[in-house]
Amino acid sequence: MHYIRKKRIESGEKLKQQPCEFFFRLLPVDFADSMCKLLIYMIMFALIYDFMLQYKILKKWDVFPLLAKIIETLICLFTINTERNLKMTVNILAVGDVCGKTGIDFLYQNLSSIKKSKNIAFTVVNGENANIVGITPTQAENIFSAGADVITLGNHTWARWEIKEYLQSNNRILRPANFALCCPGMGHNTYQTPFGEIAVINLIGRFTLDSNTDNPFYVVDEILTSLRTKMVLVDMHAEATSEKAAMGYYLDGRVSAVWGTHTHVQTSDAGVLQKGTGFITDLGMTGPAISVLGIEPRQSIDKFLGEPPRRYETAEGPGKIECAVFTLDTETGRCLNVEAMRIQ
Ligand SMILES: [Fe+2]
Repeated sequence: MHYIRKKRIESGEKLKQQPCEFFFRLLPVDFADSMCKLLIYMIMFALIYDFMLQYKILKKWDVFPLLAKIIETLICLFTINTERNLKMTVNILAVGDVCGKTGIDFLYQNLSSIKKSKNIAFTVVNGENANIVGITPTQAENIFSAGADVITLGNHTWARWEIKEYLQSNNRILRPANFALCCPGMGHNTYQTPFGEIAVINLIGRFTLDSNTDNPFYVVDEILTSLRTKMVLVDMHAEATSEKAAMGYYLDGRVSAVWGTHTHVQTSDAGVLQKGTGFITDLGMTGPAISVLGIEPRQSIDKFLGEPPRRYETAEGPGKIECAVFTLDTETGRCLNVEAMRIQ
């Protein structure tokens, strides 16, 4: 049974399971449907019993063995449903790079309804373009207020230097794990949820992204040896589709999901790899729908025509969210389904 946890997940602090949540987990999958059926059975039983008494087919006290059989059957049905409920799945939402004010505003207006409609339990948002380049602490707070549980970053992490202290004080925002060891913040973390622990790892590719980083393939190996978490999510922020796809296959069967970010164009290859890892080469972008990767089209055209570079301006107009929902088996951590989405 899916349910939505509206309370913000504070990392490092174990969320307490409410008694009512435990009770609801034990109920049959479709409780209302089961109650209706039970009522119909009881009415039918009363009618048949009355008929049998009337025509002396049954004596008054012969009803008890029959009632015992019915109760036994109901308990059996309840047990089957309970076992089915305990094998739970969880829906994870990964949101593509939030771009500028349009992206933050559109996220704020739409994320809660997406989470509700898709029964999302945990949301990871890439926020490294919230300030078009980089992200400020205020913008990070706005993304959390919109409903993100974790923010991941990328090559523009240090564009706004004021984020440095925020990275050190808030462990729900991650910068790439393969940055140099002296860099502030953390590249991966584990979060307690009602569905079990979920680990998030942020990596950055090396092709054309001159960030003086370690090899993400070796770094992720090292992180995985230290993790005991079944559900592991990886944001691979990279330019080259080949580097992102290679990471997906490299981690297939070792993590729950790998998604790419950075290129701002959603790819059509969402799916589950052979050994059970959910994958998409790039989630896409959350920002202005009529734009060149979030930038006002005229400015981008001028740049390609050879005009001197100027400060990027985010496009205005209607927004969009591009994202993917990964359905995970909480027992094994394996991905069962991936659905890429665009909300416009
Ligand atoms: Fe980027």
